[in-house]
Amino acid sequence: MVKVKISDWKADTSMDEAYKALRTNIQFCGADKKVIAFTSCTPNEGKSNVTFHLAASLAESGKSVLLIDADLRKSVLMGRVHVEEEVMGLTHYLSKQAKLSDVICATNLPKFHIIFSGVVPPNPAELLGSRLFKDMIRLVRDVYDYIIVDTPPLGRVIDCAVVADSCDGTVIVIESGSISYHFVQDIKGQLEKTNCPIIGAILNKVDTKEYGKYGKYGKYGKYGEYGKY
Ligand SMILES: Nc1ncnc2c1ncn2[C@@H]1O[C@H](COP(=O)(O)OP(=O)(O)OP(=O)(O)O)[C@@H](O)[C@H]1O
Ligand SMILES: [Mg+2]
Repeated sequence: MVKVKISDWKADTSMDEAYKALRTNIQFCGADKKVIAFTSCTPNEGKSNVTFHLAASLAESGKSVLLIDADLRKSVLMGRVHVEEEVMGLTHYLSKQAKLSDVICATNLPKFHIIFSGVVPPNPAELLGSRLFKDMIRLVRDVYDYIIVDTPPLGRVIDCAVVADSCDGTVIVIESGSISYHFVQDIKGQLEKTNCPIIGAILNKVDTKEYGKYGKYGKYGKYGEYGKY
């Protein structure tokens, strides 16, 4: 198994606290919610950031976690790790160029494994909708406590709705102050057409200065940053 190195994944204490709260919320969704896909309305709202940190945080709490980069169109995950040998990814597996065991990478964090997206294919949605993807999820759900799936924005491409078919829950990541209520309702409506329940939403990139203005906790140094992520 290829091993990749993750360093400096914890940015600061307030972020660490926010991810602990998020992982606790996910755990309280129930034991039947173990394969979870993350999407958003538009690009750059923070899905890849959130999924990476959430997966690492769950692994840190002792859970075995597989992070799947199912954004086959634009992967940023490879840029976050140190890799010394050639790594094959999801598209290699889904196009039958590699076995599942060849695309699961171990990391230096115990119980934290990753499947990278692989080379950009001409037919991402078709690959994600294939029997091979469903079978893969069926296999890995018996091995890991949590499978966190990063997908492209549903406001741009259909991929998350396709992936959701194999998942137990979806989460919408929303960039604070930049997405309209109607856009989120539209994405919510699209996800509701799948058989997979929406288990929550994450308000990301919250302006903590604004947040501090409204709450009395804003004046306490440590907790003033609480709503940041
Ligand atoms: N909570 C946050 N605070 C500040 N910056 C953030 C936060 N979350 C993400 N970012 C930044 O926003 C940018 C986009 O993040 P990311 O790649 O995770 O978004 P994405 O939703 O996965 O984008 P895409 O739709 O293109 O895949 C990155 O530069 C990232 O560092
Ligand atoms: Mg992304």
